[in-house]
Amino acid sequence: MRVDIVSIFPEYFAPLDLSLIGKARANGTLRLAVHDLRAWTHDVHRTVDDTPYGGGPGMVMRPEPWGEALEALAPAEPAPDGTIRDRAASEAAVPPRLLVPSPAGVRFTQAMAHELAAEPHLLFACGRYEGIDQRVLDHAATRMRVTEVSLGDYVLFGGEVAVLVILEAVTRLLPGVLGNAGSLDEESHAHGLLEAPMYTKPATWRGHEVPEVLRSGDHGRIARWRRDEALLRTAARRPDMLAALPPESLDKRDRAA
Ligand code: ADE
Repeated sequence: MRVDIVSIFPEYFAPLDLSLIGKARANGTLRLAVHDLRAWTHDVHRTVDDTPYGGGPGMVMRPEPWGEALEALAPAEPAPDGTIRDRAASEAAVPPRLLVPSPAGVRFTQAMAHELAAEPHLLFACGRYEGIDQRVLDHAATRMRVTEVSLGDYVLFGGEVAVLVILEAVTRLLPGVLGNAGSLDEESHAHGLLEAPMYTKPATWRGHEVPEVLRSGDHGRIARWRRDEALLRTAARRPDMLAALPPESLDKRDRAA
């Protein structure tokens, strides 16, 4: 997967060299480039913002540098006659999916992480201040898919941290990134439930015991216990998730729990 990030704070992305994301970059699973928006400014002050039309506090990001950045990173449309002369060139001509983190966006979820993991090219535009001039997104939408995406109901200084979160959620879904792909199947949100609690050795720690069933070796009982714990946890912490489960995904025992 190719990923481009545009930001006025490229330094925010230093952690993307670490851990499993760093490894995915090193082995070519993730081809990631971070770009400084100010590279597309032309004045001595490298200005990227201005006061909002209509008044109000704060500053808004001006459209010109963003327009140039998106033109540089999102290749032009394929030839109108649709001719394919060179396969590599025609693949490169598919516009990326543009993601713009914003508290006014649609909610980022595990389902969206799966959707994004199937894209060949993601382009992230990190807004700061009161956001990016809306015309940048409206214009981009004439030639590529644009999604404003929110991490949750709170406001960050800018999109950078949101991009780190989204990229981590997406990268771990790319084929070959997780050593044990089975963990994807059992984790929280995989089946619309929160994951059951996990334990490791020692069996007793500071007077707290690992539940007996997990030490029983009885795989049927263990699976049932984990399912019950997942249901109880989800009911207590995320009743909205439980309510959204399709009834056919619950078995008789679930309903009793
Ligand atoms: N930028 C500012 N706040 C944000 C949020 N909650 N989610 C995504 N991007 C943001």
